[in-house]
Amino acid sequence: MTKKAKVISFGIQKGGSSKTTTSGVVSYLLSQNYRVLAIDMDSQGNLTELLTQRDIYDFHGKTILEALQKRDANGYIYQVTDNLHLIGAEDHLATFSRWLYGNYRGNQALVMSDMLDTVRDKYDYIIIDTPPALGDQTMNALSASDYVVAMFEASKFCYSALGRFLESCVHVQTQVNPDLKIAGILRGLIDARRTDNKALIDLVQQEYGDLCFKTILIRNAAAGRLSINGLFDNNEMNAATRHYKLFVKELLERVGETVQA
Ligand SMILES: Nc1ncnc2c1ncn2[C@@H]1O[C@H](COP(=O)(O)OP(=O)(O)OP(=O)(O)O)[C@@H](O)[C@H]1O
Ligand SMILES: [Mg+2]
Repeated sequence: MTKKAKVISFGIQKGGSSKTTTSGVVSYLLSQNYRVLAIDMDSQGNLTELLTQRDIYDFHGKTILEALQKRDANGYIYQVTDNLHLIGAEDHLATFSRWLYGNYRGNQALVMSDMLDTVRDKYDYIIIDTPPALGDQTMNALSASDYVVAMFEASKFCYSALGRFLESCVHVQTQVNPDLKIAGILRGLIDARRTDNKALIDLVQQEYGDLCFKTILIRNAAAGRLSINGLFDNNEMNAATRHYKLFVKELLERVGETVQA
């Protein structure tokens, strides 16, 4: 039997919680050992920019929107490296819902899943970056995923969002995609000088226990600069990805991969 890709979405409806940075760095790190397809499901196109360092409008007409409309990923895949491929996004992805309810007659929750069926056997991992909203893009990503990582950035607003995000995941599990598993909550963007950050991180640990990954992403200037310098030929990569490497190891364990010591 052909091996099928494990599909992992990164999400939370709160903006600026490191969804894109994390999904980009995780795609990059996984691609050192696995075949990876990264999917930008956010019309901001930040993942597209991070992985390619190109203008997102270069991808116009060749994005995830067209792949979804055709229910075929082939023809929309950009090769970042041999092992790291991308389906990009730009502003027009914002028209996805209009297309979905105006033009599409099939199961609206499963468009992404149907599209991914055309490439699942070509990759080990498919990583989906989602937008800061619980709209159709996020719901379609969750409906197509085997795992979801809930991103928790140490702020009160993100704390308020987290419970509802997890409820939305359970809703998708029960209504559309029984295969969806919550891989865990990735806590981060801590500023080491702020005790209120630490208190929120601890609160999430108390409330969600083992659902939390042990790794906590620390706010770090080199990681913040990845959006400027990209992931390739970047001499700060070690400093930028230190915590992400620990997270990837935990993630692989949780998704059932045999991890080399
Ligand atoms: N570990 C980190 N250390 C420092 N800065 C970071 C880190 N991770 C992300 N950032 C910065 O925080 C900001 C938000 O990150 P990012 O764009 O990845 O979040 P997001 O959740 O994808 O945002 P959105 O909800 O808008 O899609 C960016 O400016 C990014 O460079
Ligand atoms: Mg983002």
